[in-house]
Amino acid sequence: MSHRFCVAPMMDRTDRHERFFLRSLSKKAYLYTEMINANAVLFGDQNELLKFNECEHPLAIQLGGNDPIKLSEAATISESYGYDEINLNIGCPSNKVQSGNFGAILMNKPNLVAKCVKAIKNKVNIPVSVKCRIGVDDMDEEKDLNTFIKKVSDSGCKIFIVHARKAWLKGLSPRENRNIPPLNYERVYKLKDEFPHLEIIINGGLENIEDSKNHLTKVDGVMMGRKAYENPFQLTKVDHLFYGMPFLSKTRKEVLLRMIPYIIQQHKAGIKINLISRHFMGLTKGTRFAKQIRANLTNLNALKEPEKKLTQIANQLG
Ligand SMILES: Cc1cc2nc3c(=O)[nH]c(=O)nc-3n(C[C@H](O)[C@H](O)[C@H](O)COP(=O)(O)O)c2cc1C
Repeated sequence: MSHRFCVAPMMDRTDRHERFFLRSLSKKAYLYTEMINANAVLFGDQNELLKFNECEHPLAIQLGGNDPIKLSEAATISESYGYDEINLNIGCPSNKVQSGNFGAILMNKPNLVAKCVKAIKNKVNIPVSVKCRIGVDDMDEEKDLNTFIKKVSDSGCKIFIVHARKAWLKGLSPRENRNIPPLNYERVYKLKDEFPHLEIIINGGLENIEDSKNHLTKVDGVMMGRKAYENPFQLTKVDHLFYGMPFLSKTRKEVLLRMIPYIIQQHKAGIKINLISRHFMGLTKGTRFAKQIRANLTNLNALKEPEKKLTQIANQLG
């Protein structure tokens, strides 16, 4: 399983419906869940939080937390559900996450992160990865980042996904923290030079599939977040461009038509259609009737024959 192209973990985006949809666009892209707090895994509705469709492999679960024991227990449970990798969130700067003392704030505590990774590694057989930033606040982007990567990799993590900008822990919203601190791809390339035995995946600001591929001359993989969600159709090129598979041309219409049996099956199981169809909005990007199609996609719940309407929408997509 390769991380040459990954879709980023995104809260309220990369749920199991979105991932099913992404898998219809690329067979090979490495997928990640939204961040799930270790406490939620231990004390919440595990089936609701952890179950997924078999087709979603390769699939990593992203855990949030700072307690080695709880994280290792949550990882053990996750492994039993069949995830391919445990990913630890060391990049989220939200106030809520900071007040729980996990996420990006842990970049300042490499010894604790190393302990968490070690505890997880001791309990599971699947790989453990860390998603981090190049730093936080006034942390030294060179020396301190190297110390972080060295300590955490010595504890058993060999895969690092690095968002190529710092997080500023005071004064910026999570959204601003994805845009305002400057991108520094060179620093991530340098990490690969300094730690050639580690798998380094670059993240942050990737605009399109073709340009993203250029990073592969410097690092092992790329992770795309917002643009994969906003313009998912471009993912139909991933298997060819990143994994050397023959290019299989698909239209937007074919993509949506193939989703219909899934939507109907989920609807019959009690899932509201718009919880699935909301993820297709990006499929309309650049199409003629985008606004109208998006309106149609939001109004499916009350319909007696949603299948008919969905087929109409697919035809509109062309
Ligand atoms: C709506 C949204 C939710 C996000 N949730 C998470 C998350 O749960 N865990 C995480 O590590 N990063 C999260 N991120 C950050 C992304 O994984 C990614 O690092 C960031 O968006 C930069 O990549 P991009 O420029 O390709 O979007 C989120 C981003 C967005 C836009």
